Amino acid sequence: MKVFISRPIPKVGIDMLKAKGWDVVVNEKAEGRAATKAELIEGAKSSDAILAVLTDKIDGEVMDVGTPALKIIANYAVGFDNIDLEAAKQRKIMVTNTPGVLTNTVAEHTFTLMLSIAHRISEADRFSRAGRYHAWGPNLLLGTDLSGKTLGVVGLGRIGSRVAFHAVKGFEMKVLYNDPKPNSDFEKEFGAQYVERIDDMLPHCDFVSIHVPLLDSTHHLINEARLKIMKRSAYLINTSRGPIIDEKALALSLSKGWIRGAAIDVFEFEPEIVPELKELDNVILTPHIASATGETRNKMAEMAAQNIIEALGGRTPPNLVK
Ligand code: GLV
Ligand code: GLV
Repeated sequence: MKVFISRPIPKVGIDMLKAKGWDVVVNEKAEGRAATKAELIEGAKSSDAILAVLTDKIDGEVMDVGTPALKIIANYAVGFDNIDLEAAKQRKIMVTNTPGVLTNTVAEHTFTLMLSIAHRISEADRFSRAGRYHAWGPNLLLGTDLSGKTLGVVGLGRIGSRVAFHAVKGFEMKVLYNDPKPNSDFEKEFGAQYVERIDDMLPHCDFVSIHVPLLDSTHHLINEARLKIMKRSAYLINTSRGPIIDEKALALSLSKGWIRGAAIDVFEFEPEIVPELKELDNVILTPHIASATGETRNKMAEMAAQNIIEALGGRTPPNLVK
C-alpha cells in the first residue's frame, strides 16, 4: 500500500502508518507552505490513500491520477470544503475528517479572540511596545466586559456548543443561537434561546461567533446588510471559514463603526488578507491557528491515520463524511 501525506504532520500519525509496513510518502517540500497542484498530482499517483490538509484542493483531476488504487482521502481537519465530495462519490473514494478532537481547542481560541478584542489586548500590546505607556489612565484603552452580555452563536455544532458552554458557565453570558434546527436539551442546559432567522438574532447580540461549515448556503452569510443590522457596539468572531464573511464589507463596517470590533482566524482569500483590515486597530487577525495546540494536532494526526488504517483494512473508517 502507498500512502501520500501532502504536508509534514505530527510524527505520531506518520509512525502509525509506517508501522503497517506501508510505503508512506511525506511531501517534505511543503513545510511552511501549501502543497502545489503538481505535488498533489505527483503524490496521488498509484496511492491507495491520501492524507490531505485544508490547504489542498482535492478535485476530480487529482482523484483521477490516483484511480483505481485510491480508496480514501483522509482530511487533517474537521472542515472538508477543500475536497470535492461529489467527485469522490462518483469515483467511490471515501472521505474522512477529524471531528471532536479539536472542539475544545477551537472553542478556547474563539474565547481567546473574544476576550482579546473586548479587552483590546493586541492594541494594548502594540501600545506598550511602541513606548506609548507614560502613565496609568482612567480612560486608557477602555474595553468591554463579556459578563452579562449576549452572545449569538451561529451554528450549534460541537464547536458552537462548546463556545456556548464557556459563555454561560464561565462568563454568565446570555446565549442566543441560530441553526437549521432547535435543540431543546441545549436550551435547557444553558438557558439558551433559539432564533430561527439570523436577521432576527443579529440586532440583539453584543458578540456574534460563527461556527457553520462553508457551503454554498453559508458563503457571505455575513454580508454588508447583516453587518449593518448588528449593534454598533457589537463584536464579530470567526473561527470557521473565511468566505462565510464578506471580508471587504467587514473592513468597511469596522472603519465606518457599524460594529465595534472583530477578531478572525480565517480569511476569505487565505492566506491573503484584505489590505484594509491590516490598517485597522479594532480587529485581531490570527493565521488559521484555532486548532493549533500540540496536543490537538497530535490527536488530529492519529485520527487521520486511523481512518486510513481502517479504510485500507477493508473496514468503514470511523469518521466518514457522508
Ligand atoms: C480547521 O480549520 C479545521 O477544519 O480543522
Ligand atoms: C463545526 O465544525 C462544528 O463541529 O461545530
